[in-house]
Amino acid sequence: MTQAWASGEAGLPIGVFDSGVGGLTVLRALRADMPGENFIYLGDTARLPYGTKSAQTVVRYSLQCAAALIQRGICCLVVACNTASASALDALRAHHPSLPIIGVIEPGAQAAVTASVSQHIAVIATEGTVGGGAYEAAIHRFNPDARVTSRACSLFVSMAEEGWTEGPIAEAVARRYLDPIFRSDDAPDTLVLGCTHFPTLAAAMRAILPKHVSIVDSAATTAAAVLHRLHGATAMHAASGTSESPLPTTLGGVRWLATDGATRFARVGSAFLGETLHADAIEIIDL
Ligand code: DGL
Repeated sequence: MTQAWASGEAGLPIGVFDSGVGGLTVLRALRADMPGENFIYLGDTARLPYGTKSAQTVVRYSLQCAAALIQRGICCLVVACNTASASALDALRAHHPSLPIIGVIEPGAQAAVTASVSQHIAVIATEGTVGGGAYEAAIHRFNPDARVTSRACSLFVSMAEEGWTEGPIAEAVARRYLDPIFRSDDAPDTLVLGCTHFPTLAAAMRAILPKHVSIVDSAATTAAAVLHRLHGATAMHAASGTSESPLPTTLGGVRWLATDGATRFARVGSAFLGETLHADAIEIIDL
């Protein structure tokens, strides 16, 4: 895969962070939508998971991740972690008012409201995301009358990291979590994958869910939101005469940062990214 990375006044990379490798599902969607952009990805692997920690701790960690990326130069920040988006987005925006900051929850909530016919929406996520009610609040901003059924599915996180994403075990666990929600007369018609790890288990969930249920993956919708923000920013630059070329035309690269375990990051991350990552390309940093 492309490891080249270049930063410059006109081509600052997009900063992306997650508690670990999960955000690579978001990075994958971002790269697919914006192949000409450079990225800098930080996985806070020393301190994951975020999903079982208090909101206060997640805010502190998120501010540190953002500071590390900003220090290296970024044009915008993507919070590619549902738990961090749920707890820390307001604090991040308050600390960095001039930096465009995009989380994964708002785009996912909007996509769910658009996809749902019955406006009864299920959200599965980590304990932290479910506990804070961020998806419910975001969905209600788009439709105050929508009904939301939420469930923490913590085991999916470990299964995704273990690579147990398909077959009888994955389907049995998916049944255990999802049957109580979807095997009732009044079941939701849309399922939001409210955790970065869950898209890797989408096939197992699809296999056991009623056919009419739509699955919303917030990675793709977040990438669309970032593209929209960047196009807007670039268009404004071009209009004020500071940029001649609205978007780069060459394939961009990714600079990789993690806070621990380059070998594990590369091994587990390759499955999330859908491309081979090499441990020696990952720089280990302290926050
Ligand atoms: N990245 C986290 C999220 O999307 C899942 C992993 C964790 O708990 O740190 O919520």
